Amino acid sequence: MSRPQKLYVKSYGCQMNVYDSRRMADTLAPAGFIETTTPDDADLVILNTCNIREKAADKVYSELGRIRAIKDIAAREGRRVVVAIAGCVAQAEGEEILRRAPTVDIVVGSQSYHRLPELLARAAHERVIDTEFPIEDKFDHLAAPTPAATRARGLSTFVTVQEGCDKFCAFCVVPYTRGAEVSRPAAKIVTEIERLADAGVCEVTLVGQNVNAYHGDGPDGRPWTLGRLLYRVAEVPGIVRLRYTTSHPCDMDGSLIAAHRDLPALMPHLHLPVQSGSDRILAAMNRRHTRADYLHVVDDLRAARPDMAFSSDFIVGFPGETEEDFLASFNLVDEIGYASAYSFKYSPRPGTPAADLEQLPDEVTSERLSRLLYAIDPQQAAYNASCIGLTLEVLIEKPGKLPGQLVGRSPYLQPVHVMAPPELIGEVHPVTITDLGTYSLHGTLTGAAARVPQLATTGV
Ligand code: 5AD
Ligand code: SF4
Repeated sequence: MSRPQKLYVKSYGCQMNVYDSRRMADTLAPAGFIETTTPDDADLVILNTCNIREKAADKVYSELGRIRAIKDIAAREGRRVVVAIAGCVAQAEGEEILRRAPTVDIVVGSQSYHRLPELLARAAHERVIDTEFPIEDKFDHLAAPTPAATRARGLSTFVTVQEGCDKFCAFCVVPYTRGAEVSRPAAKIVTEIERLADAGVCEVTLVGQNVNAYHGDGPDGRPWTLGRLLYRVAEVPGIVRLRYTTSHPCDMDGSLIAAHRDLPALMPHLHLPVQSGSDRILAAMNRRHTRADYLHVVDDLRAARPDMAFSSDFIVGFPGETEEDFLASFNLVDEIGYASAYSFKYSPRPGTPAADLEQLPDEVTSERLSRLLYAIDPQQAAYNASCIGLTLEVLIEKPGKLPGQLVGRSPYLQPVHVMAPPELIGEVHPVTITDLGTYSLHGTLTGAAARVPQLATTGV
């Protein structure tokens, strides 16, 4: 048998890229590829790229410089390294990448990953580009992970349920790079999750660019909403935690809000980007909702699930944003009380409507970004501090850095350190939060597990 080929996949950007990278690795496994964690000894390097903002897209070209050096060294040793660019930069700038970067052998768009083995064969004698939106569904052709691969990836995983977006926010490239909204049939998603659960996965995050616009065919022949799908996935034995991301406020329908009320497995934490707190800017962004609509959705969710926490994305310096518009975003942070929030300087993306508008000076945007962070950072710290004294259900995931210590996640995605025996890995246990680390919480086991011999290890 020939020696196994080594595959290095690096993901940039969103969780969908993480999921796609895994499915690419699964698809290449039958062709003899095993994953490696460094590009230095790889035979195939895949960069799964993101172009949501200019900075994200630029990373590809700087990483390619490093890969080129590795490729040259390997060539001197008589070894060929094949370099593939996948993801949204591949989709948006395929030809340009081939022109700009002679190191690249394959450009593969996000709808063509199932054709990687075939593209790889062609790359033996030519440079290859495949950025079509093919008719066939790639999910029908992508190989499933082996149980061993699933176990190696941990207890928590992502499953793509929907791709693409029809919202066309004026700043966003996604509708162009990922195309129109397409939802996977519910039955296929459920089968995939059952298989993951059989291999030990207990937390699933349903992923989509506009995940709550999900409208896949249900087994009853009707389109299912995301809410309906969540009720079904919650029945899969072994799945104790569910999440979904990323949502648009306009698509928070009654079934989804009811799912938050009814399903204990659905975690009370939601990433619900608002982008701006100003109605004028929301309209210019083509967000299709007002500040009041957003507040209303948040209220409905809090009524359904009082312990609900929110995170958000904000864009500052969108074309035409005045000081008053900016202050509306700034105030919204206080009004909502986020568990966390991300803020970005507006980055004009070629081909999007807002890229043609008059841009704000960078000093103005940078200064607003710092001010917004000044509102967000203490809020995030205060949110974490408010967890001290609370008992949170923690999914224990893996050993921590200290002997006897394990790390898990709270319902609100905070890492939690706790002294506990390794047998608890894979289980959910109540932990009383006692203090804060830099990016994490620390606590002690409470409830039944606290009374088992783990206490013997806490003297470390
Ligand atoms: N400029 C800045 N931020 C952007 N985002 C999307 N497009 C842009 C852009 N052109 C941000 C939005 C989105 C997050 C994933 O990235 O806030 O929610
Ligand atoms: Fe982009 Fe999200 Fe708007 Fe769709 S809803 S265009 S993915 S920001």
